[in-house]
Amino acid sequence: MSIPMVDLKGQYDSIKDEINRGLLDVLESTRFVLGPQGEALEQEIAAYCGVRHAFGVASGTDALHLALRAAGVGPGDEVITTAFTFIATAEAIAYVGATPVFVDIDPATFNIDVAKIENAISERTRAVIPVHLFGQPAELQALEALCRKHDLRMVEDCAQSFGADYQGRMTGAWGDLGCFSFFPSKNLGCYGDGGMIVTDDEQLADRIRMLRNHGSRERYYHAVIGYNSRLDDLQAVVLRTKLKYIDSYNRQRRQNAALYNARLGDSSVTIPVEDGLGTHVFHQYTIRVRNRHNVQQVLAEQGIASAIYYPVPLHLQEVFAGACDGLSLPVTEQAAEEVLSLPMYPELKEEQIDQICKALMSAL
Ligand SMILES: Cc1ncc(COP(=O)(O)O)c(C=O)c1O
Repeated sequence: MSIPMVDLKGQYDSIKDEINRGLLDVLESTRFVLGPQGEALEQEIAAYCGVRHAFGVASGTDALHLALRAAGVGPGDEVITTAFTFIATAEAIAYVGATPVFVDIDPATFNIDVAKIENAISERTRAVIPVHLFGQPAELQALEALCRKHDLRMVEDCAQSFGADYQGRMTGAWGDLGCFSFFPSKNLGCYGDGGMIVTDDEQLADRIRMLRNHGSRERYYHAVIGYNSRLDDLQAVVLRTKLKYIDSYNRQRRQNAALYNARLGDSSVTIPVEDGLGTHVFHQYTIRVRNRHNVQQVLAEQGIASAIYYPVPLHLQEVFAGACDGLSLPVTEQAAEEVLSLPMYPELKEEQIDQICKALMSAL
């Protein structure tokens, strides 16, 4: 039987009645934008993350964009981040007119190498965006100390880490602002695009509240140029339903990762490394493997999906060719050559993991 990267249908089927009832209630209420479901979700996510404020926005990309604007990052500024991430992290920096400065990653965790950040700081640096890649928190305590020391804002890209904590504090609650994506395949995913910004800072909260709604605190009064970037109530009701199960979904992901580890630990692939400082919520189960192309082919022949996140690091993307000319990030570049993500979702069965690992072994 074929095995996909994610199984959204399986998850939907397991909570179908609740989801359908919630969606019908919203349809009946005709409260679609900035309605009670969105507000309730914001309160629930703020409480879940242990912060005072949460604001639904149209996507994870918008969350990052609005967060940087709220933090006052603008033209001429530099923002330090990783090149081993989805393009949205750097797009948001470009949207506000700032320049991304890419720092190399830790080879074990694929997250930004905090020890290399200080060398990249200039008098133009205004913020750092750590990305909790594949669901494993970056080194938040060290990052927090570094940002304090250099008076930089920290904006966390938590698109892949919903539900992950670092030393007991949730990802999103460490930075000045935390940005989530609810893209359908994310650990907490809606049925379209959606995102959320969390913060404990009153001033930043006030700015986000305005920015996502046409720069307005009060209807038809506009203090700044803002955006139409809101999470609608149909998405909110889906997310409220799934939020009840997120800890169990993440536990199942971790169990599945343990099953993979037990089967692949003695093989020639490099299994994911957990640094033990945070909880890895395994948005992706990503190994390193030589002969990646062959391995993918063998898996595909047996109906098993696999994916490369990410084949081209951001500093080597055409869009940054000029700005990053000559920049070398050897650890990032090697990771991009070797990584392979295997199917990972809460509903994945042990027999399927057996099937995937057997196919992988035969390919090796
Ligand atoms: C690391 C990272 N940052 C940002 C985003 C952007 O989120 P969205 O697709 O909701 O705009 C994503 C996901 O797509 C992501 O994986």
